[in-house]
Amino acid sequence: MTADRFGKTTPSGPAGSETIECVAPSRVNLLGEHTDYSGGLVLPMAIPFLTRAAIRPRENSHYSFASELFSTTLALERADRSTARGDWSDYPVGVLRQLQNLGVEVPAFDLHLSGNVPLAAGLSSSASVEVASAMAMLALARQTLRIEEIAVLCRRAENEFVGSPCGIMDQFVIVAAAAGHALLLDTRTLAYEHLPMKKGELGETQIVICNSMVKHSVATGEYGIRRREAEEGQAALVARFGVRDLGDATLAQLEAIRSEISPEAFRRCRHIITENTRVRAAKEAMNAGDPIAFGELMLGSHTSQRDDFQCSCEETDFLVETAVELPGCFGARLTGGGFGGCTVNLVKRGEAEAFRNALQAAYQQRFSRTAETYLCEAADGAWRRNADLFAAMESRPALPSGAK
Ligand code: GLA
Repeated sequence: MTADRFGKTTPSGPAGSETIECVAPSRVNLLGEHTDYSGGLVLPMAIPFLTRAAIRPRENSHYSFASELFSTTLALERADRSTARGDWSDYPVGVLRQLQNLGVEVPAFDLHLSGNVPLAAGLSSSASVEVASAMAMLALARQTLRIEEIAVLCRRAENEFVGSPCGIMDQFVIVAAAAGHALLLDTRTLAYEHLPMKKGELGETQIVICNSMVKHSVATGEYGIRRREAEEGQAALVARFGVRDLGDATLAQLEAIRSEISPEAFRRCRHIITENTRVRAAKEAMNAGDPIAFGELMLGSHTSQRDDFQCSCEETDFLVETAVELPGCFGARLTGGGFGGCTVNLVKRGEAEAFRNALQAAYQQRFSRTAETYLCEAADGAWRRNADLFAAMESRPALPSGAK
């Protein structure tokens, strides 16, 4: 894991213009996968891979977007309302559009993005870019929004402008996380709490992320297909039992409508309903400081993702199966959207180095491919990291209520 190399500074830009820098972390999800678009529970934490958005006002009427990671730059007229281009710039442009829809007057700017979040790895590089960009644009406009509003605005940028059907988890934890804590979020109400990662014997553990290097993308088909299948089952449950969403539904109710929905819808819903139960149990395991119970829930989640949600792949299955046989590993699972990307592992602290080496070696031998591993501590979200910038700013009217 690279150190937190983007410390917050505000260097002065050329010719009297001031550059403002906002930093956003990325995230790993500990438990609660594919539950965040049907009113369920999630339990992610922020990790210190960072996106830095450096913004400064410019004199003409353009917005300019550049990134250290991509050679293309983009200049947009302030009144431009063109649609997505299909490249990295869609994320910050989508955020700008949402701010403009809200009536925030964002002055002409040069925005420069840099960072070290692994791309397409299921660690939320896109949400990290959205949140860093949103906070930088807000700071330039001398406005602020509440934590929930920034998260919702960024998620809408991704849904409505980029066209990716993600839920709220990534944007929310990237804004709201607290160092040393996981974040338990109810994605229906957006109520959340910070749960300490280091209680009891959990204090002797370490989170190890393993990147299969199989590229994952929420924007491509499979994520949307799974989501539609889950929504088919959810609609039938709502119609029959009057539940609000899958977050409310029970396995008995699902069983009762089994013959009315497709086998795929049934399996997707079974994953989501059991996953919500696992997140509730995980809260208890964390409060009890019990890594054994937590690890079992992680493995249960992986099995459910593999068999019911069917969003794992050969490489991530191998990583999980290998991990749980290694000394010091309490549990492992696929994390994030799936179809590649990373696994997350709960490992005894003293065994973490040996664990990562053994896992990498086994993967190399099996697939002739090098997995990356990252040892992580739960990091602060963008709200805490950039708090001093916003302390003196005006707030804006809230997003319409119920707008999630
Ligand atoms: C991606 C999405 C999230 C969430 C996860 C699966 O990371 O961006 O909203 O749905 O997949 O839990």
